[in-house]
Amino acid sequence: MITPWYHKTAIYQIYPRSFFDSNNDGIGDLPGILQKLDYIHGLGFETIWISPFFSSPQADFGYDISDYTDVAPEYGTMRDALRLIEEVHKRGMRIVFDMVMNHTSKEHPWFKESRSSRDNPKADWYIWRDRPNNWQSLTIGSGWHYSAERGQYYWASFLPFQPDLNYRNPEVKKTMFDAVRFWLGKGVDGFRLDIFNAIYKDAQFRDNPFTFKLLPSEADPSGFFRQTKYTLNLPESFEFAREFRQVCDEFGEKLSLGEVSGERDTLRKYLGGTENDGLTLVFDFEMLNFKFTAGYFRRIILDLEAAYPAPFMPVYVFSNHDRRRSINRLGEDVRKAKLLHLLQLTVRGVPCMYYGEEIGMTNLSLPRDTALDPVPHKFKFIPRFVFDLLGLTINRDEVRTPMQWDGTRNAGFSSAQKTWLPVHENSPDINVENENGKEDSLLNTIRALLKIRKLENSLQEGSLELTGNLPDNVLGYSRKFEGEKIIVLLNFGKHEKVFQLEHADPIFKLSKMDEIRGTLVHLNGYGGMILKG
Ligand code: GLC
Repeated sequence: MITPWYHKTAIYQIYPRSFFDSNNDGIGDLPGILQKLDYIHGLGFETIWISPFFSSPQADFGYDISDYTDVAPEYGTMRDALRLIEEVHKRGMRIVFDMVMNHTSKEHPWFKESRSSRDNPKADWYIWRDRPNNWQSLTIGSGWHYSAERGQYYWASFLPFQPDLNYRNPEVKKTMFDAVRFWLGKGVDGFRLDIFNAIYKDAQFRDNPFTFKLLPSEADPSGFFRQTKYTLNLPESFEFAREFRQVCDEFGEKLSLGEVSGERDTLRKYLGGTENDGLTLVFDFEMLNFKFTAGYFRRIILDLEAAYPAPFMPVYVFSNHDRRRSINRLGEDVRKAKLLHLLQLTVRGVPCMYYGEEIGMTNLSLPRDTALDPVPHKFKFIPRFVFDLLGLTINRDEVRTPMQWDGTRNAGFSSAQKTWLPVHENSPDINVENENGKEDSLLNTIRALLKIRKLENSLQEGSLELTGNLPDNVLGYSRKFEGEKIIVLLNFGKHEKVFQLEHADPIFKLSKMDEIRGTLVHLNGYGGMILKG
């Protein structure tokens, strides 16, 4: 079987508001991304995923869309979007947009019409009820909100200004699939799919059962004493994944990457049957809360290998626009970040990196009261230290600060007086220009790793087998493809490890102290190596 491109690629996520500001209004934009395409291309990423830049009141910074087939003026124009597609393709890369199918903005003309009466042509486009049931939103509290105009409650899985569309209405489904077709027709290579597991809700509006669980987790989104049986991961949503795939297939080999949560066998259902006739990929967010030990990664690799055997492919992601930056889980230790990305770029799976992760950009601690992100305002009653203890970032502004390009004012992101979010004070140190100049920087390490990944088919599509008999806190695996073999060794411990290994030639070392002496491998603390067998 020929591996499709979307299972071999490496993805770079751009949060457009924070990447590069071309017109100096303090907000990143599409022409800004155009100017930085060569940077991403030069790093070696093959696919770019851009968070939403469509028309939107920006109450959730683009995840609240008011027109799916137009561009918000602060990000540019339709011409810019089309040029971006063209320029990405010219470089032999791919571009993926972010489809928010579950809900629109409250300002979308469809919702305005829907709420205007109980019998208008769009009356049934959203989910309306005379009385709320016990369903809770993903951001705590009832997800039912009263509209005085219509005298009924509408359902919103996320925030009150993001009413859910009603996919049981065939017109809604057709209209949204046509929006998908609109972009595919313009040449887009696929989509990341926002809260895809919430698309369908129970048709009978049955109350969700009680649970003792207080806090939701990646594997089990129920929490605050309520299960999510009738609000998330309904069988209709798995079927919808197949229908979505069929729409994509009309245009060729397209990527579809679901943002879903739940137990691993639930996530798998979005990928369809044994032939992978559903979404082409799903995020598996457990690893966003990774532990930096060989044991943890051995377990996650084994689990993902079992859950996503060929023709499926797992996704390895450690940061995004909603969660704590990966380096903050590593005590901001660059040596550990290098090891983490050595794993991410050599393990069997599609790596997905968040802008700035390649230079080790850190969270910026910001006060919650003045957060622009609407989410932390809903959690005001929980003191910050609780989230810190749990390793969670509730104020997403902290992970969305402007990209740090150089050591000049505003880190070279913009020459505006004020950027939409403050630039991190560590930008004179942590920035692209600085790291370009340092041979052993995180940036150059990632660039080198992406280069090897591109050269070695076994890293892109080979099988994976864990290596046995390694010292404590050392992880090893081999990747094999058509007679080629690559071995990867990673020392998660801070002390040097020395051990015997079958003969193989190193083609990459994380530090100069990682080496082969005679028949012995020497791995420095947090050292790592790629060898050719
Ligand atoms: C997803 C997005 C997040 C957004 C939410 C509502 O979780 O990643 O940024 O706020 O959905 O659309």
